This record gives sequence, structure tokens and C-alpha cells, in this order.
Amino acid sequence: MKASMGFGMIFLTFLLLGSHFRWVCFARDTITVQDLLADKEGETLISAGTGTKFELGFFSTPEGRIDGGGGRYVGIWYSGNHSSPRTVVWVANRDKPILGSASTGVLAIAEDGNLKVLDGDGKVYFSTDLESSSSVYRTVKLMGSGNLVLIDGQSGDYLWQSFKNPTDTFLPGMFMDENLKLISWASREDPRSGNYTFQIDPEDNNQFLIMKRTVWYWKSDQSGGSIRSIEMPEFVAAFLSNFSTSMNDQNKSPMQYSNLFYNFSIPQDLFANARLLMRSSGEIEFSIRDNRNGLWGLFWSEPREPCSVYNPCGNFGICSNRNRSFTCECLPGFQPDSPDNWNYGDFSSGCARKSPVCNMNMKPDAFLNLKLMKVGSKFSTYSGGDVEEKCKEECLSNCQCQAYFYVGLNGRSGTRNAGASCLIWTTELSNLQKDYQYTDGIKNFSISIRVAASDIGIFLLNM
Ligand SMILES: *[C@@H]1O[C@H](CO)[C@@H](O)[C@H](O)[C@H]1NC(C)=O
Ligand SMILES: *[C@@H]1O[C@H](CO)[C@@H](O)[C@H](O)[C@H]1NC(C)=O
Ligand SMILES: *[C@@H]1O[C@H](CO)[C@@H](O)[C@H](O)[C@H]1NC(C)=O
Ligand SMILES: *[C@@H]1O[C@H](CO)[C@@H](O)[C@H](O)[C@H]1NC(C)=O
Repeated sequence: MKASMGFGMIFLTFLLLGSHFRWVCFARDTITVQDLLADKEGETLISAGTGTKFELGFFSTPEGRIDGGGGRYVGIWYSGNHSSPRTVVWVANRDKPILGSASTGVLAIAEDGNLKVLDGDGKVYFSTDLESSSSVYRTVKLMGSGNLVLIDGQSGDYLWQSFKNPTDTFLPGMFMDENLKLISWASREDPRSGNYTFQIDPEDNNQFLIMKRTVWYWKSDQSGGSIRSIEMPEFVAAFLSNFSTSMNDQNKSPMQYSNLFYNFSIPQDLFANARLLMRSSGEIEFSIRDNRNGLWGLFWSEPREPCSVYNPCGNFGICSNRNRSFTCECLPGFQPDSPDNWNYGDFSSGCARKSPVCNMNMKPDAFLNLKLMKVGSKFSTYSGGDVEEKCKEECLSNCQCQAYFYVGLNGRSGTRNAGASCLIWTTELSNLQKDYQYTDGIKNFSISIRVAASDIGIFLLNM
């Protein structure tokens, strides 16, 4: 009786010691020069602290196995009970998986002081690429925020951090500046660099772009001045600036967009579990994770429909989402610039005038008056256009003028008023969209587009 109890006690102690040992050994958040991380079952870094936890380790994805031998990547994902399937937020060697059947990879602070992913032969798959240093005091730590940092042990400075070198995911605590780019995965299960990049608009640092390789795919603001089509809610802009720009209107919080996702219980600290993801399919998505079940609630995503893509029908082409079907057509007086491409569904070359405008030998040009039309291109303001006739004359007097817009102070087009504005477009019109609802209250926006009178005959169309 006594003996068996003693045995029981020893067994229990062994179990406790065993689990304690496991904990000490594996639930660490730091790599030192002596203590690398190997590609072994259960060997990961887990961020310290409470709340959302992150985990760093080696992983494979089905599509990442390009040689069928199991490509291995080093990445960071959400840790805990609900981490399957994994939501990977960062990948070190996304374009250079470790191939071959043996798991020989390590993540280590190399002799030159850089954090590297290496294989058994010393081949490098990822490096922080800092200047060589023989410092033995460097450590690498997975912070509670999910940021992986290379720290100078003497000064405490961050020499390198994953938050400044992201993959496809923006996390709380990151800051979107002109150096930061989110590049999509190649597909849902393939971490290699895909076709879409989310970044600051280099021409306007308050705005954002999605590039599809070298082409603009989406823009957060498609013009300037008084008739903007702002495609990004304030809470996303605030999130991207690490809340250094405030949300002017508190009502414009994610909750106002939550009609996108029903039955989602909202965590108390709204943004703590948020992320912005550049998807392999081309959408930028803002979502919040419920840590209790690991589910993501989607609050905002763009481009939300085919007409939200940048200039989907090309210059002078009109996009329509009517009846949820996407169509492109040319403005009256215009025809597809490349009919073959247009017939194959490639609208990017847009439409061209049937006859040139500003032809002195012909009748004066006419204007098409188009209502509820979104126009994305930049315009200039003509201060002398206080009545519509003067605005129109200004357009006719300049052969570059493609269109004008006149509005009186009370918002009704065609009324005489001291606060009137006359806007003039001198470049080809882009991003035209029918039946567009402007968010900032312009109900009856109507633009007058210049066309050769001969091209529209006697009808002056009202669309
Ligand atoms: C994981 O689940 C167990 C049992 O369901 C629970 O006791 C534990 O607190 C959970 N751990 C985390 C990190 O959520
Ligand atoms: C983001 O904001 C937090 C809290 O104000 C701050 O500690 C952190 O340094 C900021 N991060 C960046 C990259 O500016
Ligand atoms: C990227 O775009 C090209 C051209 O449209 C396409 O052929 C390729 O499959 C795309 N790559 C991915 C990873 O989607
Ligand atoms: C939209 O669909 C309705 C019903 O199917 C149809 O009556 C209407 O003509 C359609 N409108 C357009 C512009 O295609």
C-alpha cells in the first residue's frame, strides 16, 4: 500500500517535471546566438504576455510543395487552441522554400550577426541582410504584438523587425509608410509572392493603392477637390497610421460596416485582434479575429465589385454594375479603341472619339450631360465660371478641355451664385461609372462631356 502510493507519487512528479521541462524547452520567445530554432516537431517560439499570442516555426503548405518533397517555410501565425487551420501573418523565406525530404532547416543568428534561415549545408534561404557584425550579444525575440525583432543586447536597439518587412498582413502596431508594402501570396496556399501589392500612393501620401504587378488595380481616392469618391473608411486609414491620424467621425467605426458579417461577436478592444490582408485574389480586407473561436469577421474589403477596380472600362468607357452584372460601354460619340480586345472582354484600352473635337471647319462642339456619373480623373477649378455659360465657354475655348462641371452654391446645377464652382477636365476621362452614389452628399452630380456635334447628331443625351 505504502509502496504503491510512493510509486504513484514518483510517477506524478515525473509527469509534472516532464511537462514543466517541455514548457521550459519549447514555450520560449527568444533565440540567442547559442540557441537556434530547428525544424522539429513542436519546436516553436511563442510570444509572451496575455491576449492574442503568436507562434513562430517551420511549416509547409500543400501548394508550397513545388517539388512534391515538402517545401518548408519559417513563418508566424496565431497561436492557441484555435490555430487550425493556421492563419499565417508573416513568412521569412516566402520565395525560397527549403526543398527536399529531410527537415534540415534552422532559424539562427549567424556568425555575421544576421538572422538567417539555413539548411544543413549552410545554404541561406532568408537573411536580415544587415551589415556584418561579430556581436555575440544579439537576440531575436517574438514580441506580444507578433513583431519579430533582432535586438542589440547592449543598446537594446531593434536592428531589424518583421513589422517593417511584412509579407501580406498588416497588424496592430505596424505603421504604413512609403517603404511598407503588403504583397499577396501567389494563392491561398502558396506563400510565394503573388500579383497584388498594397502600398501608399507615391503621388499622394494620404492615399493608398493596390497594384496588380505594374498596373493600378484599385485606388482609395480617385480624384481630389470637392467631388471625391473616397473608397476607404476612416477606421482603416486610422489603423494604417497606427492611430496617429484620428477618426473624425466616431460613427465611422468598423461596426458601421458590420452588415458585411452577421452573428459576429465583437471583442472589447476592437483593433487589438484586427488585421489588414492583401489577398491573393486581389482584395484588401480588414477583419477582426474572435480569439474564443478563432473565427474572422470581415468588416471591409475592396475592390468590392467589378466597377470598383481602377478604370475598369478604360478611358471614356462607362462601367455599370446594374443588376449585379458588370458591363462596359463607350460614351455616346465614342467607340472601342481596340474592338478586338473589347470583344474578348479586355476593356483596358477604353474608348476613343469617333471624330476629333475642336475642329474649326465643323459645327461647334456639343455637350453630353451625364447624371450620377463617377469621374476619377483630376480636374482644375476655373474661378471665372460663376454662371454655367461662362464655364462652358471656358471649356470650348481650350482644345484640351474634355468636360466641365458646373454647380451653384445650393448644389443645383445651372443656378447663378457667387459660391458656384466650375471644374474643367483637360485629360482623358477615366473611372467613369454609372449610377454612382457619392458618399459625401452630392446627390445629383452631373458632368458635361464635350463631343463633336456630328457624332451625336441631334440628340443631346441625358443618361
Ligand atoms: C484551450 O482550451 C482549454 C480547454 O478547452 C482551455 O482550458 C484553455 O484555457 C484554452 N487555452 C487557450 C490559450 O485558449
Ligand atoms: C504604434 O503605436 C504604439 C502605441 O502608441 C507605439 O507604442 C508604437 O511604437 C507605434 N508603432 C510605430 C511603428 O509607430
Ligand atoms: C499573375 O498574373 C499573370 C498574368 O495575368 C498570370 O498569368 C499569373 O498566373 C498570375 N500569378 C498568380 C500567382 O496568380
Ligand atoms: C434588371 O433586372 C430586371 C429583372 O430581372 C429587369 O426587368 C431589368 O430590365 C434589368 N435592368 C437592366 C438595366 O438590365
